[in-house]
Amino acid sequence: MASSKEWFETIAEAQQRAKKQVPKSVYLALLAGSERGVTLKDNVDAFGELGFRPHIADLPPHREQSTTVLGQDISLPVLISPTGVQAINPDGELAVARASAAAGTAMGLSSFASKPVEDVVAANPKTFYQAYWMGGRDVLSTRLDRAKRAGAKGLIVTLDWTFATGRDWGSPALPERLDFRTMVKFAPQAIQRPRWLSRFVRSGALPDLTAPNLAEPGEPGPTFFGAYYEWMQTPSPTWADLAWLREQWDGPLMIKGIMHPDDARRAVDIGASAISVSNHGGNNLDSTPASIRALPSIAEAVGDQIEIVLDGGIRRGSDVVKAVALGARAVMIGRAYLWGMAANGERGVNNVIELLRAGIDSALLGLGKSSIHELTPDDIVIPANFTRGM
Ligand SMILES: Cc1cc2nc3c(=O)[nH]c(=O)nc-3n(C[C@H](O)[C@H](O)[C@H](O)COP(=O)(O)O)c2cc1C
Repeated sequence: MASSKEWFETIAEAQQRAKKQVPKSVYLALLAGSERGVTLKDNVDAFGELGFRPHIADLPPHREQSTTVLGQDISLPVLISPTGVQAINPDGELAVARASAAAGTAMGLSSFASKPVEDVVAANPKTFYQAYWMGGRDVLSTRLDRAKRAGAKGLIVTLDWTFATGRDWGSPALPERLDFRTMVKFAPQAIQRPRWLSRFVRSGALPDLTAPNLAEPGEPGPTFFGAYYEWMQTPSPTWADLAWLREQWDGPLMIKGIMHPDDARRAVDIGASAISVSNHGGNNLDSTPASIRALPSIAEAVGDQIEIVLDGGIRRGSDVVKAVALGARAVMIGRAYLWGMAANGERGVNNVIELLRAGIDSALLGLGKSSIHELTPDDIVIPANFTRGM
């Protein structure tokens, strides 16, 4: 159990601690966002526009949060969204896997992650492998075979990426590799963050900035930027490619990055098991409205035909309750757990998940609901024009 001093009480506090703990370039890589940052901000602000309609008596003594996503039982309607980030903590995705397994939930593992899928599945058997459409059908199929052999329980294919990532607040300078020359260059940043540095020194290795899951097990993976280049060179998929992918992967499949009801219908047509209503956490096509604004129309279009998950802007348990009330089965979190890991490693990730669980519980209590499955849009005050025509 973490000491009370270590324990943060909001995700905002985790973010402040993260900023002090990790080098500036790592912090900026986690903050991410694109162009003006309109979508990045709207993802969070939109939740603040939604209100609750609480009750004060006959409140339920116990509240139920468990559900299933992609065939996996989860103890709360919150999953780990895949994030391809490196160098936060030497344990990386293993810390996230252990914390999410201990909390009884599932995890998406990015194909740009720093730890092998075999080790992550061993730490959390409820792991879904996330792929981008990169390298074409044959290359993809080899990588999916590896994930399958490793025991990944589902596949998340993320499609909302346009390679436009310039930011008005500047992008971090990230090295291709940490060789001696770059270490000297980054030393001033690292020295200002001695706890971060000492964790890596104690682990016996500096971040190697590679993507091990894009090679065969045991072989050296491409560098992060080499992999990004491969992705940029691959033509984006057609719906026929995605139907092929559905055939290739004989387990549950989620299509991540859907903001349009037409795409949600196409996902149903090809036989996907789930979609994530998502704009990549505001890291992609800036000026796309918040994902929560797109949820009601997508839930109306396909809510009875496919599992709907939402990600983008979840910072507290009450946000989760709002999303579930508006039609999501569960949500996925990105920055929230990244801040937690940057602030306090595995315990920090656990801290984040438990904060969300407690926040969901108190929102259910206030709304007089004994289960997340009883939530409906009637529990929410939705201002006029909230969906912005989405
Ligand atoms: C630093 C960073 C890296 C990400 N990398 C990936 C990735 O590799 N694959 C993917 O599907 N989504 C990736 N995402 C998007 C997240 O899975 C998720 O959609 C997003 O973070 C949700 O928004 P939130 O951060 O506000 O919770 C990344 C997000 C961030 C912030």
